[in-house]
Parts: sequence; C-alpha cells; structure tokens
Amino acid sequence: MIKAFVFDAYGTLYDTRSVSAVINAAFPGQAGYISPVWRMKQLEYGWLRSMMGHYADFWTVTREALEYTLRTAGLDADEELFEQVAQAYNQLSPYPDAAAALRALSGYRCAILSNGSPGMLSALVRNSGLDGQLEKVISVDAKKVYKPDQRAYALIEEELGLPPSEIVFVSSNGFDICGAKQFGLTVARIERITPAALTEDIRQTGGASPATLYDALRSQLEAHGAKPDHTIQSLSDLPGLAARLNA
Ligand code: LAC
Repeated sequence: MIKAFVFDAYGTLYDTRSVSAVINAAFPGQAGYISPVWRMKQLEYGWLRSMMGHYADFWTVTREALEYTLRTAGLDADEELFEQVAQAYNQLSPYPDAAAALRALSGYRCAILSNGSPGMLSALVRNSGLDGQLEKVISVDAKKVYKPDQRAYALIEEELGLPPSEIVFVSSNGFDICGAKQFGLTVARIERITPAALTEDIRQTGGASPATLYDALRSQLEAHGAKPDHTIQSLSDLPGLAARLNA
C-alpha cells in the first residue's frame, strides 16, 4: 500500500534552468553557458565532497560551483552581484505540473528528499508557494553526505516512519534513480526530456551547446542496470499511478 510520495527537488519539482533570467540580467547573453556548467559543477562538487569525507552544505557547494563557472567564463562579479546570482537557486520556478500534482496527491503524504541545504530548501518551497503541500522537506544535511550515498535515502524512513514498500520516490535525475533503486525504493522516473527529443537535439546541433551536453549527461537513464519501476511524462500522472498501485 503506497502511503507517501517523496520527491527530488532540483530538476524534478524545480526547474534549474530558471536561473537563466537572473544570470542574463547579471551577465547579458551568458546563461547558455553558465546555467548548465554551474549545475554540473554543483552536482560534481557535492559528490567530490561526499567521496572525500569533506562535507560542506549545498549552499557552500552551489557557491563554489558558481565561482568555478564564472572563472572559466572569464567573468568577474563583486560580492553583491555574486550573491544576487547565487540566490537564483533559492528562487527557482517549479515545473508547471508541480503544484497541481501535489494538490491532487493530497490524500498521500508528500515530502522532498534533496541534496539542498535546509536553508536553500526552505527558501525554495516558501518562495514557490509549495510549502503548504509538503509535509516534510528532508535535507541530506542531517547525514552529511550527498545522494546517491545510500545513507541519504535512509532519511526517508527515519523522517516519515514508513518502510520503503509504502513509498514512491520520484526523480528525473539519472544518478538519483540509480541510488534510490539500489536502496530498494520504488522509483517513478519523471522523463523531463525524452530520449527522442534529446537525440533530435544532438542531431540538429551536433551536441555543441552546454545545455545539450548537460541534458545528455544528466537527463537520461544511466547504464547501470537500475531501471525505474515506472516512467511518467508529467507529475500529473502520479495520482493515476497511485490509484493503480493501491488497487
Ligand atoms: C536534489 C538534486 C541533487 O537532490 O537534484 O534535489
């Protein structure tokens, strides 16, 4: 019996590309490079810190990744501008299907499990108005490791008091799907970019843009053999999935 849906935040409920407006206001025309490279480095720095046993929270990681990205682009930012751009991560737009799907799942317990720091996540859900629809916002910060470290997924049971068999974990991120499946969760993959759309994009552009490269590296299923249990095209498919699973 499924009782709860637990969502990844960045790329699943929230569109990390929505930092582009803030980036373009600060550095006109540069978002096409900065947005995907910043996000790739952010993830990489989290994993690097986890593996080195040198944890710092995701706000630190996000700022270090931005520093790296601006440096490689040869761009300078004073403290105020840097802060303004970094804060874009606390103002991300939810995907258009997020609010309605959470409302439609009101009969279930809904939560976030994210690599985001507690401060980032509470700003994010408050700024986007999704706070009222989420029972818990769980940050990996409690374990000082980043997903897909298995200790991060253990937080779901610890925080919700439900066994994995009563939970559906929802993510668009390939690495997160791997980690959650390895942990033994039932996983619904939200396919934000279909393989056909990505292939067409690569065919048309030669994969030359940083955005396409990001999608190629991060939006597709990994080749580790850990397949999701369900694949959905929109978060609005979740109430139907829940009804089928509990029938
Ligand atoms: C999250 C990012 C890593 O955990 O997708 O929300």
